[in-house]
Amino acid sequence: MAIVIVLGTQWGDEGKAKITDLLAESADVVVRCQGGCNAGHTVTHNGEVFKFHLIPSGMLYDNKHCIIGAGTVIDPAVLVREIEEIQAKGYKADGLRLSTRAHLTTPYQTALDKAQESKRDDKTKIGTTGRGIGPTYADKVGRRGLRIGDLYETEDILKQKIENFLQPKQAELAGVIDKAYEEQVTELMDFCRTYREKLKPYICDSVSTVHDHLGQNAQVLLEGAQGTFLDVDYGTYPYVTSSNTLASGLCTGAGLGPTQIDKVIGVTKAYTTRVGEGPFPTELKDSIGEHIGDVGQEFGTTTGRRRRCGWVDAVMLKYAARVNGLTGLAMTKLDVLDALAEVKICVAYRDKKSGEPLESFPSQLSSLDTIEPVYETLPGWQTSITDIRKEADLPQAAREFLTRLSALVGVPIDIISVGPERNQTMVLNHPIIGPQGCAMAVS
Ligand code: GDP
Ligand code: IMO
Ligand code: MG
Repeated sequence: MAIVIVLGTQWGDEGKAKITDLLAESADVVVRCQGGCNAGHTVTHNGEVFKFHLIPSGMLYDNKHCIIGAGTVIDPAVLVREIEEIQAKGYKADGLRLSTRAHLTTPYQTALDKAQESKRDDKTKIGTTGRGIGPTYADKVGRRGLRIGDLYETEDILKQKIENFLQPKQAELAGVIDKAYEEQVTELMDFCRTYREKLKPYICDSVSTVHDHLGQNAQVLLEGAQGTFLDVDYGTYPYVTSSNTLASGLCTGAGLGPTQIDKVIGVTKAYTTRVGEGPFPTELKDSIGEHIGDVGQEFGTTTGRRRRCGWVDAVMLKYAARVNGLTGLAMTKLDVLDALAEVKICVAYRDKKSGEPLESFPSQLSSLDTIEPVYETLPGWQTSITDIRKEADLPQAAREFLTRLSALVGVPIDIISVGPERNQTMVLNHPIIGPQGCAMAVS
């Protein structure tokens, strides 16, 4: 039995789904633990591209148990559509389970998310995905949220829960939902009735489900959504999502304790991207940034927005290693840097005026206004690596880039990805089945 966490170390879209799908071959259970349909998780298999928003990225294997855990927020319309889409492509959804503790995103929270965002000016806008994530988590911690399990209460209890949910929101909903209170209650009752039936085959008490699998010696993968710097506590607040995206948040979302976790794999792009607003120390607003965005096809999976691109940032990655307890890195999209004559790694930050170094990623964003990145420049490899399958066959310059990055972060590289397909990968140290080479040394 092993429990392995796969999470993002940057601002999301690191390739978590590709790595989860790859490792899922050796796992019995895959759990999505937090976030909602703000996530856009791409799995490419035999040329076919799947974009999952809520379904765990283990769903393409027959007989895989895929659980959507208690820490998630669920727009049922999106989930039902996603289930229908994979079924239409000939895949089964029999192994899918949805926690009764997960929270429900109603159309009202989605409307509020969009309305709140449209009221923000250029300085305060967050650039959310507009999927109702912030309002749903606010209702959850405000203890007025609706949960999946509530759909299966009696009509009287459900109505009472809907009223508890709606009453405190009336001022906020004015001008957003153009309906009288009684009409709102009726509309949400109908909404709940619709999805009660459609979701019924999938619901479970996820604590029993996950732990029953563990009791049978299952190999379990926890799939993160978003990334370390979008974490509501440890990310670039307030330019973050509304859930805990770190290893600890995944434990909570899956109903597991920290002592049960064997490995924490930090999925890391060979450069950095960010979609939406917020600080980005190594952002490239030049032709190199544009080149990386074009070659890497850096467009948001959920919203289609162009992602901002920049150099890989070892200051951020060291912080990610600390707050997640990373045991290994999965380096993705190394191939995207193929054509560059030189590649850079941000090794430190320093004050623009005094040159004073900043030791760690700061907690206050204002500190980022006055710093600049310090780069180490390495030669590029200027050859295509996308067909390489053995780490030893990588060009020397690519190996040096990886070795240096690993040394700076203090975490070994367990997996190298050189393309979107499952087989475009070099597994040096398999987190579930063990070393197949050996992890790239931290020198
Ligand atoms: P996630 O949200 O972390 O699962 O990542 P996304 O799916 O949003 O974005 C990652 C994108 O990069 C997807 O289009 C993947 O198919 C693609 N991808 C993943 N790994 C690689 C890689 O090693 N090389 C290239 N070129 N593309 C990759
Ligand atoms: P995956 O799982 C990249 C970003 C949004 C916005 C901020 C808040 O595919 O890596 P939200 O809708 O969550 O309230 O938006 O977080 N964001 C993501 N960026 N990848 C994601 O998910 C993201 N999920 C949210 O762009 O800046
Ligand atoms: Mg994504």
